[in-house]
Amino acid sequence: MVEDKILTKVRIQELKPGMFITAYTGFAAKYRSLDDKTCRFIQHNFRKAKATVARKNKEQEIPVEALKINDHLKKIHDLPPDLSKIQSVSDKLQQALKARGFLEFDVKIKGLEKEEKRELKEAIDLVKQSTLTPSERKERYQQAKQNAEQFVQQLSENVQTRKKASRAVENIMDDARRGKIDYSGIIEYVEDITKHASSEAMMAIVSLKQSDQTYDHCVDVGVIFQSSYYKIKEMKKEKPIFDNRSTALLGAFLHDFGKSKIPKDILDSTVRFERESREMKLMESHPKFGAELLSGMKMPEAIVNMAYYHHVKQDTSMNSCYPKNVDYNSVIYESRLLSIIDAYQALVGRRKYKKSWNPPAAIRYIDALAGVEFDFNAWDDFLSVIGLYPKGSLVELSDKTIGFVMSVPHENLERPQIAIVRNEFGEDLEKNTIIDLELEKDIGIVKDLDIEETFGINALSVFSSIQID
Ligand SMILES: [Fe+2]
Ligand SMILES: [Fe+2]
Repeated sequence: MVEDKILTKVRIQELKPGMFITAYTGFAAKYRSLDDKTCRFIQHNFRKAKATVARKNKEQEIPVEALKINDHLKKIHDLPPDLSKIQSVSDKLQQALKARGFLEFDVKIKGLEKEEKRELKEAIDLVKQSTLTPSERKERYQQAKQNAEQFVQQLSENVQTRKKASRAVENIMDDARRGKIDYSGIIEYVEDITKHASSEAMMAIVSLKQSDQTYDHCVDVGVIFQSSYYKIKEMKKEKPIFDNRSTALLGAFLHDFGKSKIPKDILDSTVRFERESREMKLMESHPKFGAELLSGMKMPEAIVNMAYYHHVKQDTSMNSCYPKNVDYNSVIYESRLLSIIDAYQALVGRRKYKKSWNPPAAIRYIDALAGVEFDFNAWDDFLSVIGLYPKGSLVELSDKTIGFVMSVPHENLERPQIAIVRNEFGEDLEKNTIIDLELEKDIGIVKDLDIEETFGINALSVFSSIQID
């Protein structure tokens, strides 16, 4: 019989994969006197666990559901089995915990046998990587080359589809504005996109800063939602809520359908409206308008839910949450995922009234808000599909070369494959090579770059002309 090893007061930097957290025992300052937001964060993410708190200087053990503002958090323990996700230590969990100010833990190391096996596997993997034979390396490179070329090709095709679909969305919204509800014009694109579009290609298009009107936004969010949603469901071996992929896509396309009830001059305005202005109030009614229109069209309940709740934050008291006074439990998983993708597209896409973000920066930003604004589980799922550096992101490497991210790595999300487009002397390359960061351990990503600042309006053509040597 192999016995579990118990360790107490393990600090965040000492956590190692293979450890299992049995209690959270050390916290950053913000947990020492809980405010409303932090209180909800804990309640949401540690559902059904117990907390030891100091309340009016008296220590007591309570269910996390009973936490109150001003409680001092001492310990979170007795986590139920469905929270194993925040107990099994991985590099990713460690990063997430650090970012959220969890500093010390009690851990269990499951039977040493298993630990030994894991160490052995790690050692074998390491040796495997460093001793890839020249022919294995060549094969891996060929595969990377093929994937990259396919991705470039897919992206060019998706640019065309996006244009057409976005015109179709514009038409149905214009029709609706005139009181005519007819979405048959979009159906042919829905079928076409379902067959050809990919979330990765569409995310890359967004980051290449192509035009970004309301309609492009709907198409981008639609495609990214549909393909990442189905990937997640497949990964988790769960049944999708929609009848088929086309329904999912149509639903996500129509998440902002309520905007058809908003006058075009407000919708296309280049200025940001004041929070309390009439225009802002009207803008914030679009989820309600959309849900009304869609239920009138007899759309499935999930689609109506997505339209109604896509601006609802997990912390429903936030200013940016609308409609107001809703129960977060009514927000289905699909709507939670959609709201993340909606926010991502809004940050990265080109907007007239703001500077757009680089994809990895947008990822880090949303990551910091997961568990407060966005549902932690939906975010985690989405992150495992797109990685820390979404495909098509532009990065600078430690050897001063510049390239586009071409893969979502399986193991270490920080080490994708990069197609180099500019050498260390700042010269643009006609023929490109791929650096595989999973193999080239001496090189790393040092910063993410703004595609527009680097290539101006040529970004798309620089990307489309990538040719791997
Ligand atoms: Fe919206
Ligand atoms: Fe939206």
